[in-house]
Amino acid sequence: MNTYTTSDLETLPARLWSELERAAAEPANPLRTPVLGTSNLFECSMRVVVLRRADAAKRQLIAYSDARAQKVHQLKLCEQAHWLFYDPARRAQLRISAGTMIHQNDAIAREHWQALPLAGRRNYCANLPPGTDIHAPGDAIAPELKLPSVTKKQLEVGYENFAVLVATVDQIDWLQLGDETHVRAVFNWTAAGWSGLWLVP
Ligand SMILES: Cc1cc2nc3c(=O)[nH]c(=O)nc-3n(C[C@H](O)[C@H](O)[C@H](O)COP(=O)(O)O)c2cc1C
Repeated sequence: MNTYTTSDLETLPARLWSELERAAAEPANPLRTPVLGTSNLFECSMRVVVLRRADAAKRQLIAYSDARAQKVHQLKLCEQAHWLFYDPARRAQLRISAGTMIHQNDAIAREHWQALPLAGRRNYCANLPPGTDIHAPGDAIAPELKLPSVTKKQLEVGYENFAVLVATVDQIDWLQLGDETHVRAVFNWTAAGWSGLWLVP
């Protein structure tokens, strides 16, 4: 049964952030693969991404993308993005709104690129932008870059296409389903910190 009380509004943001921080480090955690929604002001588009890092102190969520992908084009038009997380075992939904900066060819991009295993770097080595039509499924990446013997140096071509999306969260809408009652709260970032309100679910 959901037994939240008024004072839980004070403690929930820290708890939610610590769940996100943990999820980013746990490959099997369902919160590690949220849906990221972006908009070009006329229509929205959504896709699953990997949450690479969450940082409560900085209010940041971090994901990676090919810099030529549609999400990056949309974030350049409209930096406000929406992240949707769902944990089916706990029946908890988080809808997060965040202004997003794109880092490419800078110190932040370099730091994350260095930490990326070689297999991950290969994803940014396609000759053409994501979504371009190709003749056969394997045509996206040059055959020599797919060999197990591929070197760090060979994969460096991917760095040009590597983007780090750094989202600074300004709102968290949390919904906890229960057997009898559901509980929902919204937290807005203010000069005084997270300010919470209970909402009708
Ligand atoms: C489980 C899963 C994880 C994914 N992680 C990422 C990711 O971290 N970054 C990314 O750009 N695309 C990721 N994708 C692929 C995206 O969902 C999407 O197909 C791709 O980024 C192109 O989207 P866009 O053209 O809208 O930018 C992932 C897909 C799945 C199914």
